[in-house]
Amino acid sequence: MPAPVVTVANLRKRYGNFTAVSDVSFDVAEGEIFGILGPNGAGKTTTVESLQGLRSIEGGEVSVLGFDPRTNAAEIRRRIGSQLQESALPDRMKVWEALDLFGSLRAGGRDWRELLGDWGLGHKSEARFGSLSGGQQQRLFVALALANDPQLVFLDEMTTGLDPASRRVAWELIRRIREQGTTVVLVTHFMDEAETLCDRLVVIDAGTVVAQGSPQGLIARYGGGARVCFSHGDGNLTWLRNVPHVTDVQRNRDRVEVRGDGPVLAYVAAALVERGIAPVDLRQERATLEDVFLALTEEEPE
Ligand SMILES: Nc1ncnc2c1ncn2[C@@H]1O[C@H](COP(=O)(O)OP(=O)(O)OP(=O)(O)O)[C@@H](O)[C@H]1O
Ligand SMILES: [Mg+2]
Repeated sequence: MPAPVVTVANLRKRYGNFTAVSDVSFDVAEGEIFGILGPNGAGKTTTVESLQGLRSIEGGEVSVLGFDPRTNAAEIRRRIGSQLQESALPDRMKVWEALDLFGSLRAGGRDWRELLGDWGLGHKSEARFGSLSGGQQQRLFVALALANDPQLVFLDEMTTGLDPASRRVAWELIRRIREQGTTVVLVTHFMDEAETLCDRLVVIDAGTVVAQGSPQGLIARYGGGARVCFSHGDGNLTWLRNVPHVTDVQRNRDRVEVRGDGPVLAYVAAALVERGIAPVDLRQERATLEDVFLALTEEEPE
């Protein structure tokens, strides 16, 4: 694996008496798209802001591009791009002025016209920030994060507020900047986004890491095995629990969900047919990162 560009060991951060991050550790390798997932209030923004030197840190060892954000925040900020979860620009600032300003902060910054085109804002370069829609403002902030052609970019909820087509365009653009050598740290609540984009990810809950790995590795480990679903009007199906490879049977109105492992689909199909039940919609559903997320994180929102 290439050398890590970010290392975080036992990061701890308090706001007054409240510990927002109690123990977070992970490494991000060069050229990776690395995801940070977790429920509201888990400490994701606190973590990425601490890495950028935007928050004081109480404990742990942190290195970003070889620099410690406690002592060398300016060096880090010169080399990274950053889209913060909470951002604003003066309402009267024009789109091109913002890009020109951000791009000029580092020699060799990207041509803002190209960036505007990439992010679907080519027709908005003369528009004032305050006149943009929410999704357009969000896309502008991602474009601004890339304006200085950074080695490493932090994106905190990059696609929140974007329409479905714009989200897919954003994913393609993120893949492209990775191909050009930029390492990406991505905070997201969209499980499909994390599953398709991230090489590896960490799940944080209540300020601590509860799991990390590749999306497929986490799904295999925490996805809860196979899930076979079908519709069935009425009748008791608890006997399905005795079918080999079945671990659980749940019913929600006429939708039946059977959990199990290995060849559970074949055994359930055979057992149903033997009893004269032949559901036309019998199928095995793939576990997703969403199943992993729900299994790993506390159910009660803060
Ligand atoms: N400036 C602050 N002062 C006091 N508490 C704070 C401050 N910023 C964050 N917190 C608290 O720290 C915890 C972690 O917040 P953080 O913003 O890191 O969560 P998050 O994982 O990014 O959540 P979300 O998914 O909602 O963005 C929360 O309980 C939050 O209320
Ligand atoms: Mg946040």
